[in-house]
Amino acid sequence: MASAKIGILTVSDRASRGEYEDRGGPAIREYLGEVLSSEWEPVARIVTDDQPLIEAALAELAADEGCCLIVTTGGTGPASRDVTPEATEAVCQKLMPGFGELMRKVSLEKVATAILSRQTAGIIGSALIVNLPGQPRAISECLDAVFPAIPYCIDLLGGPYLETDEARLKAFRPGKK
Ligand code: MTE
Repeated sequence: MASAKIGILTVSDRASRGEYEDRGGPAIREYLGEVLSSEWEPVARIVTDDQPLIEAALAELAADEGCCLIVTTGGTGPASRDVTPEATEAVCQKLMPGFGELMRKVSLEKVATAILSRQTAGIIGSALIVNLPGQPRAISECLDAVFPAIPYCIDLLGGPYLETDEARLKAFRPGKK
């Protein structure tokens, strides 16, 4: 079976202009490398905090690249340039509010500022988009909580069968112990 393509979208004015190193994108890639045991391939992009550019990158990763999952980092806060959730909502046919709810719940146990993230998730075509905050440490804090649900969600979308290293993270699928 062809390897699953996973989009990694860094949304940051400064990282996209090269003013600082993108740490969020590589942290997502490292996380996925640690957790997934089935074949996968990253497709990484960096864009500025511009809603039309974020929407175009999400659509390109889903439709042209055929990613089954797109993980974004950055742009989820309250500042005027923070528009990643708006872009996600604009391109998705369905929203998956449980992802944001669970990520904020676990994040609030770690940092009080988690309340400032409007991170969400949704379905574009047959791909799942999940927003993460820009802080590199938020990547594993959030993904450890929601990743167990992601392989089954992708099954339901008709996507590739993602498997995890169960010693690191156990995915749940109904009827599977
Ligand atoms: N969630 C986790 N798990 N860990 C964090 O460090 N940072 C918070 C919050 N959520 C954080 C977090 C902060 S400081 C902000 S401002 C918001 O996410 C929004 O971040 P963003 O605009 O970089 O997406």
